[in-house]
Amino acid sequence: MKARIVYASMTGNDEDMADILEEDLQDYGFDVETSDVGFTDASDYLESDLCIFITYTYGEGAMTDEIADFYEELKALDLSGKYFAVMGSGDKTYGEHFCENVFDYEKAFKECGATEITKPVTIENAPDDEAIDLIDQAAKEMADKLHD
Ligand SMILES: Cc1cc2nc3c(=O)[nH]c(=O)nc-3n(C[C@H](O)[C@H](O)[C@H](O)COP(=O)(O)O)c2cc1C
Repeated sequence: MKARIVYASMTGNDEDMADILEEDLQDYGFDVETSDVGFTDASDYLESDLCIFITYTYGEGAMTDEIADFYEELKALDLSGKYFAVMGSGDKTYGEHFCENVFDYEKAFKECGATEITKPVTIENAPDDEAIDLIDQAAKEMADKLHD
């Protein structure tokens, strides 16, 4: 089972999330490829069974150029038959904009016809023990659902 994790990270928090999830999925036997959004074509998801996007949110929900470009590429894809999950790190002091870009991407994947495999995992800033548990649980859920 192939999984592709794409992450957007300025200060490393979302990259850390991607690393944790990658290790978890490898432990569950997935063939995982992980890449920075700036060096990835959205069409790379076409090679995977499980498509994962992990992102920051900056600027009160507005997308940075790198994730806006990827978002446009993503929306042009047909991902029917594939599973997806979104995750990300934000800051609750931004109120209604907390992790807004995670939810933007959740909507885009649904519009591409993919099936959501786990609920979005949203954490605050750097992953602490509680956040790591949430990522581990999500990975387990992905494995339980995809390896019957
Ligand atoms: C200028 C600025 C704007 C931000 N805007 C938001 C926001 O709108 N929503 C949110 O949830 N977090 C916001 N954050 C918090 C970051 O998303 C958070 O620190 C995140 O962990 C950064 O991830 P990264 O280390 O992967 O870049 C903002 C941070 C900065 C510095």
